[in-house]
Amino acid sequence: MDVRIFKTEEEIGAAAGKMFCDFVNSKPDCVLGFATGATPVPTYSYMADQCDKGNVTFKDVKTFNLDEYCDLPKEHKNSFYMFMYDNLFSKVDLKPENIDFLDGNTDPEAESARYAASIEAKGGIDIQLLGIGRNGHIAFNEPADEFSGEAYKIKLTDSTIEANSIYFDDIAMPRYAMTMGIGSIMKAKKIIFIATGASKAQAVHDMIKGEVTPKCPASILQNHADVTVFLDEAAASML
Ligand code: PGA
Repeated sequence: MDVRIFKTEEEIGAAAGKMFCDFVNSKPDCVLGFATGATPVPTYSYMADQCDKGNVTFKDVKTFNLDEYCDLPKEHKNSFYMFMYDNLFSKVDLKPENIDFLDGNTDPEAESARYAASIEAKGGIDIQLLGIGRNGHIAFNEPADEFSGEAYKIKLTDSTIEANSIYFDDIAMPRYAMTMGIGSIMKAKKIIFIATGASKAQAVHDMIKGEVTPKCPASILQNHADVTVFLDEAAASML
């Protein structure tokens, strides 16, 4: 893994965002995989700003996202689709028909097959953005007894519910989500991984220095050939 350490979240956003923009300029019809959460916000801001300045266009880019809540309307303010709409999709020139998202309100198995086929039909994901949960999860792949394959429906852990329920002020946070599986994430040709803050330091340590185990789902990235890791000093403090 290529580990890079930065002082601020903004510096990480600029560095990771530049890696995406440079790639889009080299392959304008590429396929990008996005992630939600607080960590990627500066990366999306950088990309939106570069698009606004005319330095990059997303008009032929196709996108997928890692996960989506179940039992939550797509239009709800806390859906991951709305997060992406607010932070990136509404700010760049992506075409709506080029945006694919897991549907958390339909049959999980059929949706998993549809998503895998859609990724495949577009040539596979060129770059997948990833964050990490405090428990080592990537996407919503929580610590488990074995690594998952393609997308599936998962019951969220108490740790994840505690971390994400701060965003739910009107309704209870959903207990289930559809998530890309570890197998689908590992098929991405390149991974850009970002983590900030001391609360991620143990998980980042276990991902990079620990054994490869489904108890720390992110540790599987040790087996991926092309991972660039962007950390701030707090997230890197246990390395
Ligand atoms: P965060 O979430 O960026 O909001 O910390 C990351 C994750 O849980 O994967």
